[in-house]
Amino acid sequence: MAINVFVPKFHTDEILEEIRECLDRGWTGLGFKTVEFESRWKKYTGLPFAHFLNSNTSGLHLAIHLLKLQNGWKDGDEIITTPITFVSTNHVILYERLKPVFADVDKYMCIDPDDAERKITQKTRAIMFVGIGGNTGQYEKIIELCRKKKLKLILDAAHMSGTLYKGKHVGSEADVAVFSFQAVKNLPTGDSGMICCKEEESDRLVRQLSWMGISKDTYQRFNKNEGSYKWHYDIPNVGFKYHGNSIMASIGLVQLKYLDEENAYRNRLAENYIKLLEVIPQVNIVPVAPECVSSRHLFQVLVPERDKVMQFFYAYQIYPGVHYISNTEYPMYSYARGTCPNAEKYSKELMSLPLHLNITEDDQQKVVEVLAEAVKGR
Ligand SMILES: Cc1ncc(COP(=O)(O)O)c(C=O)c1O
Repeated sequence: MAINVFVPKFHTDEILEEIRECLDRGWTGLGFKTVEFESRWKKYTGLPFAHFLNSNTSGLHLAIHLLKLQNGWKDGDEIITTPITFVSTNHVILYERLKPVFADVDKYMCIDPDDAERKITQKTRAIMFVGIGGNTGQYEKIIELCRKKKLKLILDAAHMSGTLYKGKHVGSEADVAVFSFQAVKNLPTGDSGMICCKEEESDRLVRQLSWMGISKDTYQRFNKNEGSYKWHYDIPNVGFKYHGNSIMASIGLVQLKYLDEENAYRNRLAENYIKLLEVIPQVNIVPVAPECVSSRHLFQVLVPERDKVMQFFYAYQIYPGVHYISNTEYPMYSYARGTCPNAEKYSKELMSLPLHLNITEDDQQKVVEVLAEAVKGR
């Protein structure tokens, strides 16, 4: 049996019951289950606002669009961001004709606050922080830096469903935090995400912008008591088709019930990897920041000659992942090549060991044995 980096686990029977309700009622779109999921998410995280979307990418785009609109940012203004991320984080900055300025990463693979400060110019408007693998890195210093320099803070929390910092779910410190419930995330649906704004007015605007800029959504216009449908609405802004639907929300509602228990299992697997890897000094474990309880979306290590080691694994049907190659290596962002030496070094060594809910201790033993064999003499 192959051992893959990710395999999502779905609570199928419960999910099908939840979806059946949508089908029987004849309401699969925006509203109904999306409203319920938003309130459950707010309760779970303690965040004041939450709006369900069709992806995290849409949410990050909306975050930039919203802040540009609200604060009068100009084309060419700069956002400080990380090179070690999935490209969504950085593409959304370009969607809004702003410039991604890359700050280097620290030992947690998150933005290094000192380098972020060095990269601030007259044109800097915000910092985009990514909690890689569920790690908070030096997020608190980034929050302080944003406060000191009057910059907006966007949190790409794609990997952070269930991440706690100092005992509290992350997200409330950012102007906008965006979670991902994409197919292999800790809270997998099919594709969806949640945008959580700090301010009520931002939440209101984001709801309009995610539904073509229309003033009232279809669920608000459908009068449940009278069964009538108010057709009239206004369009104060150009918006996007980014809202989530009730089928995805149904999956999310069920998966959310199990998130803490499943993240606890992921953490146990991570602890076990840490013990097993003691015998391989050539492999460095990416640490979790102090006072952070990571969602453990990823278990990242730094491995010499990573590409050869990956090939070695394949022969045993073991398929680790790479999260990520420094975005400065892609032609789109090559203007920043050489500006983030740590990221460019780590990007040749980073590897994510298989970590998901079907992994057993025996699987982990096998992964570490093969890894030991692969790095022997390197
Ligand atoms: C760090 C990071 N940001 C953003 C995204 C985009 O998330 P989504 O697929 O929900 O749009 C991902 C997805 O892999 C991610 O890993």
